Amino acid sequence: MEVVILKNSDQVAQYAAELVGTLLKSRSDAVLGFATGSTPLALYQRLVADYQAGKISFKTVTSFNLDEYLGVAPDNPQSYRSYMNRELFDQVDIDKQNTFVPACRDNENPHDVGLGYEQQMRGAGGVDLQVLGIGANGHIGFNEPSSSLRSRTRVKTLTRQTLQDNSRLFARDEFQPKLAMTMGIASIMDARKILLLATGAGKAGAVADMIEGPLTAMCPASILQMHEHATILLDEQAASGLQNRDYYDWANVQNESLQDRFGLLADPIGS
Ligand code: F6R
Repeated sequence: MEVVILKNSDQVAQYAAELVGTLLKSRSDAVLGFATGSTPLALYQRLVADYQAGKISFKTVTSFNLDEYLGVAPDNPQSYRSYMNRELFDQVDIDKQNTFVPACRDNENPHDVGLGYEQQMRGAGGVDLQVLGIGANGHIGFNEPSSSLRSRTRVKTLTRQTLQDNSRLFARDEFQPKLAMTMGIASIMDARKILLLATGAGKAGAVADMIEGPLTAMCPASILQMHEHATILLDEQAASGLQNRDYYDWANVQNESLQDRFGLLADPIGS
């Protein structure tokens, strides 16, 4: 695990956008995994700005989103499809035919939709770079605590805490979905590279459990300890619960000097 601690959320977004930009420049047909929520918004704003400045293109990119609410139509502004269109897809040159969200229509069997989504990801050659946020309870995607560490795309019931955390995004009398289709933990782990972003003090406990706690289904993000190429980007607040903080900073100084001498040490995505 590479743990990078930056001053604030702006720097986290900038660092993440540079990593995505570097990938798109070396592989214009990259397969990107996207997350929704508040955390990646600043990243998407930077990607839009980089696209507008002519630095990057999404023309031949394929994307897979982590999750989608069940019982929410794609054109509902609360759907994750709408979120992605609004925050990124409508503002860049991506071909929407190549953007996938694990949406399950009312007449569809969620089990079949899950299997189909896994097949689509495999058919696209797998995800090169998966962007993740983390829930205050340690979830990734909507894999809530106690999710199987080998799970694949399926329906999950959201915990009361997640519903409470996300209630800020719904009006008082608006329907708030309690079920979602989500990539499983094994699906996420298949990505060649993981980029998890966490900002704000509310994530400090989950971040400490993810990085320094035991590997346990009770903190689904702790599975990233087993990923060969996981980069965790944190702002100071999200990093505030880490005990090993000095080491991460020290290791990054060493990594930078190694990179200056030898270039990128490991490129999981390759060429
Ligand atoms: C979103 C997702 C979730 C969020 C997490 C953090 O697609 O899968 O795991 O990343 O709930 O959400 P925010 O960023 O709103 O704190």
